Amino acid sequence: MSTPGAFLVHEGALSDYPLKGDPGCLGDLGAKPVVPKALFQTVSKRSFLPILNAREVSMLEVKALSKRYRGLPAIDNVSFRVCGGEIVGYVGPNGSGKSTTVKIITGLMEPSEGQVFFEGESIRTNLQGYRSAFGYVPEEAHVYTHLSGLEYLQLVGRLRNLPEALIDLKANRLLALLNLDSWRHSPISLYSKGMKQRVLIAAALLHDPKLLVFDEPLSGLDVVSARLFKDLLQQLAAEGKAILYISHVLEVVELICHRVIVIARGKILADAPPSELKSSLQLTDLESVFAQLVQQQDTLSVAKELVATMAVHHV
Ligand SMILES: Nc1ncnc2c1ncn2[C@@H]1O[C@H](COP(=O)(O)OP(=O)(O)OP(=O)(O)O)[C@@H](O)[C@H]1O
Ligand SMILES: [Mg+2]
Repeated sequence: MSTPGAFLVHEGALSDYPLKGDPGCLGDLGAKPVVPKALFQTVSKRSFLPILNAREVSMLEVKALSKRYRGLPAIDNVSFRVCGGEIVGYVGPNGSGKSTTVKIITGLMEPSEGQVFFEGESIRTNLQGYRSAFGYVPEEAHVYTHLSGLEYLQLVGRLRNLPEALIDLKANRLLALLNLDSWRHSPISLYSKGMKQRVLIAAALLHDPKLLVFDEPLSGLDVVSARLFKDLLQQLAAEGKAILYISHVLEVVELICHRVIVIARGKILADAPPSELKSSLQLTDLESVFAQLVQQQDTLSVAKELVATMAVHHV
């Protein structure tokens, strides 16, 4: 049997097969990974060669990150890498620590422990330089709503030290491509949720970053915009960008992500391509994999109890 390595499920997951880490992009970072029996039997390093051959550059490296809020752990010993050309899904239940991880990756928050490396260098060494190398669409946008879409992009472009003529060219073109041409001079306060989201996507792309982090980017997007966004992700990956994609929409994650990292209660449970996760657990879709890994509640029973509770009219 060939050596498993690129695939990992971390400590505390389904089973306990200690596995030596792979130094490559899809490998372990010293977090003492374990692989469930089924996965251990079916996954080989060879499965990852097409991805590794396509783009070998390790862009983002997250090493043993922990974060505690007032003593309570939000993430615990989280490690993973994202290479150029890879779309990596980061999925987990509400409150599992996804946005906390992202805030640390983007330098908005300091971890309690651990480090983030961009192209091999700690992001804290040159935070300003790092900020101009990534694009970020946050979960909750705090956009200056008195500005127009064009003014907002101009502001973002100036903060990233782009030349004025280039900002104007790219901002106008991005807004037009995202169907905001006729709205570009209107204040963002008049935009719908999906329109604001498209402005944020344009802002994340403006400076041609190497790393893109999207926290629930499909939120509020209509069918056509969502489809455009999915195609956009694939084009960005083909250009060698590293993409971390946080979402609850598992059908989309399954469709577009090269790898999926599953996090629950602050710990990483699995890190593998969707096809490997499905075949290893003998399940047909990522949603079932997710449900099995995070052991979610029996939703049907809870739904029935909710309806029964609604129907109570007397104490
Ligand atoms: N500023 C904060 N202060 C205290 N606790 C926080 C803070 N932000 C997050 N938490 C807690 O940290 C944990 C992880 O939260 P986080 O927002 O990272 O989850 P998430 O996976 O992004 O969830 P969701 O899917 O709902 O967006 C939760 O228990 C949350 O209550
Ligand atoms: Mg979140």
